[in-house]
Amino acid sequence: MSLQPESQPIILIAGATGFIGRPLTRALAEKGHALRCLSRADQASLPPGVQRVKADLLDPPSLEPALEGVDTAYYLVHSLDAGVSRFAERDRTAAINFSKAAENAGVRRVIFLSGLGEPSEHLSAHLQSRHEVADILRQGAFATTVLRAAVILGAGGASFELIRFLVKTQPVIPDLKGLDTHCQPIALANALRYLTGCLDEEKTAGQSFDIGGPEVLTYRQMLEGFARVANDINLFLPVPFFSSRLTAWLLGVLSPVRADTALALLHGLGNEVICRENRIRGLIRQKLIPYEEAIRLALQITPARP
Ligand SMILES: NC(=O)c1ccc[n+]([C@@H]2O[C@H](COP(=O)([O-])OP(=O)(O)OC[C@H]3O[C@@H](n4cnc5c(N)ncnc54)[C@H](OP(=O)(O)O)[C@@H]3O)[C@@H](O)[C@H]2O)c1
Repeated sequence: MSLQPESQPIILIAGATGFIGRPLTRALAEKGHALRCLSRADQASLPPGVQRVKADLLDPPSLEPALEGVDTAYYLVHSLDAGVSRFAERDRTAAINFSKAAENAGVRRVIFLSGLGEPSEHLSAHLQSRHEVADILRQGAFATTVLRAAVILGAGGASFELIRFLVKTQPVIPDLKGLDTHCQPIALANALRYLTGCLDEEKTAGQSFDIGGPEVLTYRQMLEGFARVANDINLFLPVPFFSSRLTAWLLGVLSPVRADTALALLHGLGNEVICRENRIRGLIRQKLIPYEEAIRLALQITPARP
């Protein structure tokens, strides 16, 4: 670990190698924060000057040095790759271990990016697990901020890559149950602004906020909008033998997303994931990026000049 100026509070990013963690690390490094990135990997490419610490949330002794001296920790971790029967238990254990280690280290704040969806509805195992992790972190002796998001639109995100794969490679999309469920996706840039903004806005400490883009869309509209931007044409056909499990298996074989992750996400198709309140918009102001513009940004498509 390289030494960092003692006067600056240390910000830990657990999940720094992930889809959200990587750009968040870059954004916070550009703002000059003293950063420490936690990963199980032996190597991780990080911006210059950022500390790296090898630790596993399932291995409590490795967490003590990782959390030493930390003021605020981002928690951007999930275990979907462990498989549908195991991820919830792993995520529970990881959150409990992290919470204990953070308490012992005297961490002041934790910022967790969780999932939308109402606990009163019959939530998928993935969304239930996200809510459980939020509850575990809220019980810690530190101020936990929970940001609840639906699909985050950016290249490399698991849900985004599933949409991209279906639109770009499948002329016929199985008309899965759940395509007419509502979702409020958010552009990666907007989600990152909320995440970095929570650090500067102390009023977000100890609070939970729903974060979403400017539109509520069905998954079918999201696929259609993606196809418009990417200039693809897809047909939605009822294909009765296409179960979520078979679709997930195909996605795991053919797309960059692992089958376990795809299956857990497909199970969530039946759950509405829309913001129930917008308090965050009054605290962290920004222009919310419309869905199709977010897709263009993710695909790096420059609009034609008028
Ligand atoms: N992607 C979305 O559309 C979306 C939407 C809503 C909410 N979220 C939330 O955003 C957060 C980040 O998601 P993501 O999409 O960035 O996930 P991701 O790309 O799959 O990254 C997951 C991260 O978790 C870390 N991790 C997993 N198990 C670990 C363990 N045992 N110990 C230490 N680190 C561990 C991995 O680090 P190493 O492998 O390097 O150890 C990796 O950096 C999650 O809380 C997720 O629920 C994401």
